[in-house]
Amino acid sequence: MAKALVVYATRTGSTQKIGEIVAEGLRFSGHEVQVANVKDIKSEADLSGYEAYVFGSATYHGDMMQGMKTFLFLAEKADLVNKIGGSFGAFGWSGEAPERIYDTMKNIFQMDMVGGPLMLKSSQLGGGINMAQDYGREIAGKL
Ligand SMILES: Cc1cc2nc3c(=O)[nH]c(=O)nc-3n(C[C@H](O)[C@H](O)[C@H](O)COP(=O)(O)O)c2cc1C
Repeated sequence: MAKALVVYATRTGSTQKIGEIVAEGLRFSGHEVQVANVKDIKSEADLSGYEAYVFGSATYHGDMMQGMKTFLFLAEKADLVNKIGGSFGAFGWSGEAPERIYDTMKNIFQMDMVGGPLMLKSSQLGGGINMAQDYGREIAGKL
């Protein structure tokens, strides 16, 4: 059994919901998962002790939320090289946030990323439950 950390930034709760379902998928695969609001991560020490990291933000005005940007600068100091990673986010039409988070985890943190970001349209959130669980399972498959 491995440990995974899911961190989300949300305004109206959809991205939190996705993060919790991804965590469920990981738990179904037998792993221990901590889910945290980005606001509750205070230092890079809060990121130590996990084998997989899944970061998510909703997209607003073509961008990730400010809290996730600040968090990524903190995560840069946490030495996540070769750790397993994934990203996610609720979006309406363009969904830049999960893509940019994924690219940062891959190119800057040099993490071992799953196939791509998980992007769920707010209008399809109900139907996205299976996708989010499967994303958790995909991450678990690399653990
Ligand atoms: C003011 C505003 C701006 C938004 N800008 C974007 C955008 O640029 N691209 C996009 O894909 N979705 C955009 N959205 C849609 C949100 O990403 C979508 O509602 C999402 O589900 C919110 O997630 P949350 O509940 O985690 O905050 C915007 C929504 C609002 C209210």
